[in-house]
Amino acid sequence: MYRITERDFYQRYEKVSVHEAGQYTPPVDLNIILTLICHFKPKHFVEFGVQEGITAKIILDKCSSIEKYTGIDVPFGFETMMKVQQSEVPKSAGSLVSDDRFEALVLPKGTVELDVENLSADMVFIDADHSTKGVQRDTELALQMTSGVIIWHDYNRAHVQRYVNRRPGAISVLLSEKSPGVAFEILREPLPIL
Ligand SMILES: C[S@@+](CC[C@H](N)C(=O)[O-])C[C@H]1O[C@@H](n2cnc3c(N)ncnc32)[C@H](O)[C@@H]1O
Repeated sequence: MYRITERDFYQRYEKVSVHEAGQYTPPVDLNIILTLICHFKPKHFVEFGVQEGITAKIILDKCSSIEKYTGIDVPFGFETMMKVQQSEVPKSAGSLVSDDRFEALVLPKGTVELDVENLSADMVFIDADHSTKGVQRDTELALQMTSGVIIWHDYNRAHVQRYVNRRPGAISVLLSEKSPGVAFEILREPLPIL
């Protein structure tokens, strides 16, 4: 696990920024995510835990490289692994996004049901079950779907961090403002020289 400052991150990647905030993703986090997307230009972007799609909408508006965006979530009434996340389950996953490139995939048991053999992606954004087991499972699924880039949101939550910190190639960005936190891992390049 590497840690880099926000300043170093933006010296390496040309900054893309927005002022809008998602309900769960403040601009300081969104800017890191958008910057990575604009740099790596994924064609198929997959979000685990799309919720109503606030972040998806911002990403799609900003990132023209994306040809297909798959947002995965669970049906209303699903019991989340962590009680604290129960109120996050959307009434209608992805309902805020009206973009032809977007598809919501609502799976009764969540990401565990993903047919990874038939789903490949250039970039996977993990923001679903934040328990350590959930993040591990989702990362293992993502690794079967992509040889591109994985992004984790809510890195600053202890359970997320516990798993992500075990990954030697993961990079967390130390953000200047208090935020939920972002980490990422580039799979298609050798470990970056920072
Ligand atoms: C923090 S919210 C995601 C916020 C969203 N990514 C955004 O930026 O607007 C977490 C989401 O993960 C979903 N979720 C929780 N457990 C899940 C699971 N096992 N599989 C898929 N989605 C899950 C919740 O329903 C919720 O929509």
